[in-house]
Amino acid sequence: MRLISKAVFPVAGLGSRFLPATKASPKEMMPIVDKPLIQYAVEEAVEAGLTDMVFVTGRHKRAIEDHFDKAYEIETELASRGKEELLDLVRGIIPKHVNCIYIRQPEQLGLGHAVLCAQPIVKNEPFAVILADDLIDAHAPVMRQMVDVFEQERCSVLGVQEVPREQTASYGIVATSPFRDRIEEVKAIVEKPRPADAPSNLAVIGRYVLTPAIFEHLTRIRPGAGGEIQLTDGIAALLAHERVLAHRFEGVRYDCGSKLGYLQATVAYGIRHGEVGSAFAEYLRRVTGR
Ligand code: G1P
Repeated sequence: MRLISKAVFPVAGLGSRFLPATKASPKEMMPIVDKPLIQYAVEEAVEAGLTDMVFVTGRHKRAIEDHFDKAYEIETELASRGKEELLDLVRGIIPKHVNCIYIRQPEQLGLGHAVLCAQPIVKNEPFAVILADDLIDAHAPVMRQMVDVFEQERCSVLGVQEVPREQTASYGIVATSPFRDRIEEVKAIVEKPRPADAPSNLAVIGRYVLTPAIFEHLTRIRPGAGGEIQLTDGIAALLAHERVLAHRFEGVRYDCGSKLGYLQATVAYGIRHGEVGSAFAEYLRRVTGR
């Protein structure tokens, strides 16, 4: 049995960087080719052996609940038309052994606050946090890599990757000391430092495995960067009491919270899509003159 069963998906954000697309529908429902971002995130959690998907939602996020729910009308329609393949696709979005749990974050008080909203469900267990904006294309799903590290080391694990120095103000940045192969011990963590103040260029990407002690710290910390209750500040407080590791994961990360990252992901996933991949690759060669 896995030591971790719950994955928390903070999905209450406004998605203002993608307006007007996100005016009436959640940014997590934006598709990369034909699958919404949140489904990629849930699939990664399921592949890591997690069974309880905890969505921290807000207003205008009903589409996420509907996506993971049974769709009677569509299923009846597809069945009556004999479209078995599409029917399986729609029915198979969530495997039968996986539960979806929804909890609301009534106010946008920050990522740390969103994670704290999951406490009544997570209770006293270690758990995963996945930010669906960060789509990671990896041979071994990143959350699986991180759960493996947790099972060996029994402490919190952050997914990290180097970013260009001039971008540190977009991330949680860690200072680390060597531990073993791709794993380092976190010595300090700071949210969105200016390049001149950043302790390194090693950034936290949206994957975390956390011990439940984080909740107590999230309850105590004051608003930080941007006036928000930051998960990073909760982790900084946790560091004083527990070991925290950083895992330099293997995989290509697309920042689908940005337009450029979203388009790059669409190209990467598009050219290897079973149905349209080769035609799309051929099209790209033609329009780029290669
Ligand atoms: C959040 C976290 C930040 C992390 C980033 C990863 O920031 O606060 O520490 O590095 O996700 O994508 P956001 O992108 O929500 O501003």
